Amino acid sequence: MRKRPWKRIIGIAAAAMAAGSFVVWLYIGTTRIVLHEERINLKHLDPADDGLRVAVLSDTHFDAGDAPLAAEIAARINRLKPDLVLLLGDYINGSPDPRGSISMADLTRFAGSLRAGCGVFAITGNHELWYDRGMVIRALAAGGVADLTGRCTVIRTPSGRQLALIGIPDYTTEEQRPCPESPPNMPTLILMHDPNSARFVPPERGFILAGHTHGGQLRLWPNGGDRSSLRLAALRVKDKLGMLSGWQRPYALFDRWFMEFHGRLLFITSGAGGNRMKLRTFCPPEIVLLKLYSADPAAAAQHFNPVQEL
Ligand SMILES: [Fe+2]
Repeated sequence: MRKRPWKRIIGIAAAAMAAGSFVVWLYIGTTRIVLHEERINLKHLDPADDGLRVAVLSDTHFDAGDAPLAAEIAARINRLKPDLVLLLGDYINGSPDPRGSISMADLTRFAGSLRAGCGVFAITGNHELWYDRGMVIRALAAGGVADLTGRCTVIRTPSGRQLALIGIPDYTTEEQRPCPESPPNMPTLILMHDPNSARFVPPERGFILAGHTHGGQLRLWPNGGDRSSLRLAALRVKDKLGMLSGWQRPYALFDRWFMEFHGRLLFITSGAGGNRMKLRTFCPPEIVLLKLYSADPAAAAQHFNPVQEL
């Protein structure tokens, strides 16, 4: 019996609507930058600094046409009125062809438009080295952003207390050096691009902030642990098949947000961009606002997922 034409039309229309909705959902999930607020308890922080606001941004991977996006991100960060802004690397796309990335002049404009009373500090990621690390650092410095890589600096908080910031060289592209010392009994934030660098940080040195994983970028369901990450699943399958070389293997360890690695506490941001494969599912690009506390029951309730060893 022949199918009635109106049934076929309804079927095609329903399929087209479903496909269209899926594309819209993908587009919104990939491009809509969300604000991700968290509280953390920072050891040695004076109660006078409770509520200190730290904006964290990583993995923007600005393309050649992304100057307006960079301006929008800077404006959103400034609206948060952060005391401190920390940039965790991969601002550009590492490529021998600079036309694939934002211009250094626009990167300077972005850096120079960020506002924070205690300063703006940066480290570099693997893409900076693949592009031209020195050039990126100079572009950031021209905008008033200090490079923290491989050193410790002590800043004054609005209450006049001290806070130490340590920058760790990138795990894959830079020579690993001993973790810089910070003054004893001082609250300390440790910046690293790749969370794998956590293994070079003595436990208890400070609270670690990292990026690089893009939060998995493609996830199978919202708010899932590492089981929802297609990136980790793919890496682990490759590991089982013996397809991961030694330096790739550690990449299968770290996921996103609060994690614990042999006594080191980390927060890994999902990042605000997507490199060349831009698609994101259940993992929107994010700007992070961390509020620091000396002892906050809400922050103490944070669950730190243990790193799943292979
Ligand atoms: Fe990245």
